[in-house]
Amino acid sequence: MNGDAAIEILELRRRFGPIEAVQPLSLTVHEGETFGILGPNGAGKTSLLSMLATLLPPTSGDARVAGYSLSREPGQVRRRVGLAPQQLALYPELSGEENALFFARLHGLTGAEARRRTAEVLERVGLTPRKRDRVRGYSGGMQRRLNLACGLVHEPSVLLLDEPTVGVDPQSRDHLLETIRSLAGAGTTVLYTTHYMEEAQRICDRIAILEEGRVIALGTLPELLAIVGSTPVIEVRADLERVFMHLTGRGLRD
Ligand SMILES: Nc1ncnc2c1ncn2[C@@H]1O[C@H](COP(=O)(O)OP(=O)(O)O)[C@@H](O)[C@H]1O
Ligand SMILES: [Mg+2]
Repeated sequence: MNGDAAIEILELRRRFGPIEAVQPLSLTVHEGETFGILGPNGAGKTSLLSMLATLLPPTSGDARVAGYSLSREPGQVRRRVGLAPQQLALYPELSGEENALFFARLHGLTGAEARRRTAEVLERVGLTPRKRDRVRGYSGGMQRRLNLACGLVHEPSVLLLDEPTVGVDPQSRDHLLETIRSLAGAGTTVLYTTHYMEEAQRICDRIAILEEGRVIALGTLPELLAIVGSTPVIEVRADLERVFMHLTGRGLRD
């Protein structure tokens, strides 16, 4: 990790009518950092990531992503950002390979390069042996892994992962977390949303706790734990739950 900003969010805001999905929010994610956004359903995680991926126009505010302004240079941002959306974006009647190739072409890759990148990302998520099979027959975990592969195919420097492990078996979950860790190790900046505290702890350098569109706490795990006083960390799940309850008066999964 170095000190440069890969994502600099500046008073970014999104309303849906009366609902403040994301209240004016500012935060910085450093290059090479794995940054977790932890929050319950409805906290604004998907709205935030959709804006950073240029898919949802902000109500106001801006962000610099990989050095480019979201509002003024959305095309440059799109080229450098990969998104694995919460709602799977896959074609069930196509094979895993055809899906990844489709996304490669969508990002302007052609010919041998598109095929090479497709093969690389399928290998990275462990789907090479099943690449010719239709996605319709994949398990939930395999579909999540393919969804990640499709977000990676254009070699983004910033990766946005929206609850990438929801509904997957433990084996695929471990595979996904290891893939994310190795991408981060290779220098990719990862912004990762989850409502699983133990995952945030396992792979994130820093964590922001989001509630009702606002960051209510931000820091490393030890910094967050200091909010509730310094008791030894025995069971991380319980500890982060305590931080959240201390701040909000309720549990993360209520
Ligand atoms: N397209 C939309 N139209 C209206 N309200 C929306 C829309 N998308 C999200 N919201 C609302 O914005 C808030 C934040 O939602 P979301 O960003 O999906 O949160 P999360 O991903 O943390 O569950 C919720 O209250 C949700 O109902
Ligand atoms: Mg969401």
